[in-house]
Amino acid sequence: MSRWSQGVDHLLELSVVGSFSVVGYDVRSRLDHWGPLPLSTDTSVLVTGATSGIGRAGALELARRGAFVIGVGRSPERARQLEMDLRSHHPRGEGRVLVSDMGDLEDVAALSDLLLRDHVPTVLLHNAGAITPNLTRTLQGIEGTLATQVVGPHLLTTRISSTWSTSNPGRVIAMTSGGLYTQPFNLSSLLEPPLPYSGVKTYARVKRAQVVWIEALSTLKGLTSAAVHPGWTATAGLRDALPRFSTLMTPLLRSASQGAADLVWLSSCPDMVTHPGALWLDRRRREPHRLARTRTDGPRDCSTLLSYLNETIAPYVTTN
Ligand SMILES: NC(=O)c1ccc[n+]([C@@H]2O[C@H](COP(=O)([O-])OP(=O)(O)OC[C@H]3O[C@@H](n4cnc5c(N)ncnc54)[C@H](OP(=O)(O)O)[C@@H]3O)[C@@H](O)[C@H]2O)c1
Repeated sequence: MSRWSQGVDHLLELSVVGSFSVVGYDVRSRLDHWGPLPLSTDTSVLVTGATSGIGRAGALELARRGAFVIGVGRSPERARQLEMDLRSHHPRGEGRVLVSDMGDLEDVAALSDLLLRDHVPTVLLHNAGAITPNLTRTLQGIEGTLATQVVGPHLLTTRISSTWSTSNPGRVIAMTSGGLYTQPFNLSSLLEPPLPYSGVKTYARVKRAQVVWIEALSTLKGLTSAAVHPGWTATAGLRDALPRFSTLMTPLLRSASQGAADLVWLSSCPDMVTHPGALWLDRRRREPHRLARTRTDGPRDCSTLLSYLNETIAPYVTTN
């Protein structure tokens, strides 16, 4: 990476809009001469939130590259459509889609059982997520955003990673968001969002927690982990959650394929192994903090979050 390219990248980062918009993608892909990625024929990748937007684009691209893709979606109808699309993109017509609500621990436990029986993936792409305008609780009483994007993924990861080892390691990748830069890690606010409830702040706190979770996982054996930010991407999720922002930014938004590009790259690149637990955007590692007020005690946060998660999923890890 030349000093010139580092300098340009730094300026893009400072501008924020330049970094997160399609400008960042276009400039960096040229500066760093992104070439075609290797085929992924020996990889089995699970993608959550694969029925729409970034997850769908990433799943189809991985299938096109020969990976065996297991998509996860909530709607049986959208799942059926996705399975047909995955198979039509795959060189040998392969692909599978399973239905599960990632926020419901019973559902995630059942999904894990099915995977452990039929198809153990070696890469987990935890992409499912949304901004929820009203406070929701899952059947297990957990705040919905946290359950879908951290607790459910932790249960799935714990169950699946029991089959991985240092000689056969897996990869865990979480789709976070630039929103994380506005919030520090705070377990109490995650469990009981301050009132009046704000969907955007809750989402940002959960995206911060995802990065702490990924860092915590990086200390475990038998896997390597990464968090990735897709940039601002034109999807139904963005349109529904932030309609004004989405309309205003339309000419500068990344396409779903561009938003998914790092997910696809991280699922096989060696850089992820040499930098476990890192946060990525446009194939470069990024600082997880931009504001002094969000900096907390990183190792203590990792251990606090991991203890809470392990305790919460404990009733669901012994079943088979
Ligand atoms: N678009 C952006 O600019 C942007 C920026 C930063 C981060 N992100 C992140 O990127 C990820 C993908 O978002 P997107 O923009 O592609 O939005 P999207 O088009 O709405 O896709 C979100 C996907 O997540 C699934 N999902 C949501 N809750 C779920 C649950 N409880 N269980 C199972 N699946 C669930 C949705 O399933 P259904 O089809 O059933 O609704 C859908 O497939 C999210 O984590 C989001 O936070 C996006």
